[in-house]
Amino acid sequence: MNQPRLLDGKSVAAAVLDECRAEVEALKSRGTTPGLAVVLVGDDPASHVYVGSKVRTCGELGIFSRKIELPANTTQDELLKVVRDLNADPAIHGILVQSPPPAHINEEEIIRAIDPRKDVDGFHPENVAKLALEDPTGFVPCTPAGCMKLLEVAGIETNGAEAVVVGRSMIVGKPMALLLVSKKSNSTVTIAHSRSRDLPAICRRADILVAAVGRPEMVKADWVKPGAVVIDVGINRVADPSKKSGYRLTGDVAFEEVAPLCSAITPVPGGVGPMTIAMLMKNTLQAARQSQA
Ligand code: GUN
Repeated sequence: MNQPRLLDGKSVAAAVLDECRAEVEALKSRGTTPGLAVVLVGDDPASHVYVGSKVRTCGELGIFSRKIELPANTTQDELLKVVRDLNADPAIHGILVQSPPPAHINEEEIIRAIDPRKDVDGFHPENVAKLALEDPTGFVPCTPAGCMKLLEVAGIETNGAEAVVVGRSMIVGKPMALLLVSKKSNSTVTIAHSRSRDLPAICRRADILVAAVGRPEMVKADWVKPGAVVIDVGINRVADPSKKSGYRLTGDVAFEEVAPLCSAITPVPGGVGPMTIAMLMKNTLQAARQSQA
């Protein structure tokens, strides 16, 4: 049993936000107030919490923000119109449509409607391509960008490392794998998922294990190689009557049993979560900066 190193997302995010604060001032002195629009359709409680944090952080940094809350029965055409109006709005440099939208919304079409120059989530096909091409003018999805920043600040060696990413979503798994295999990181990457044969054995190969599946405490101690670095992207709500809210947050990793095996691990909450918001702010400033060019 060792004492693993906790990768503290809160303090790394705070440092990133300090850098952002300085850049907001620099942009304003050049006549541009960065602006972010956050669109939320429906009443998913977790999404409301995330969107609230994003807007609040904008306020703390001096970034202009617009929160657009739409009812769950908003039509595809109504949502497309909101996006197109934001594309045309010069005060808005970044547009984010919170995922997941209600089931009747075709999210793919909505993402394609966002001007790629304002796509601070990095979900538009043009930005997905730029990530694969390692073109720095593209936007990197915020959660995987935040994971990479955590690894970098902690001084964790990615060069030549065996990395396993569990989860193949466009929001986390696939972009995370691209970042790890990029020429900047040089990891050897396996993308595993719910249909992978012998998932525990694949995970046990990992020097760096990234869990992004959205299943509470799925990754157990016998899935983890001793000394591995574990990045837990999951933020799952599980019922807990002892809490005032009626739930507690838990990751995709069974923290209590896994942590003693690891050289480093992210806690939930306070690991990857704060990094996502910090990288969104960074992306918004990138969008504002690139709009001036
Ligand atoms: N839902 C969960 N994570 C994200 C994210 O990074 N961006 C958006 N738009 N929705 C999300």
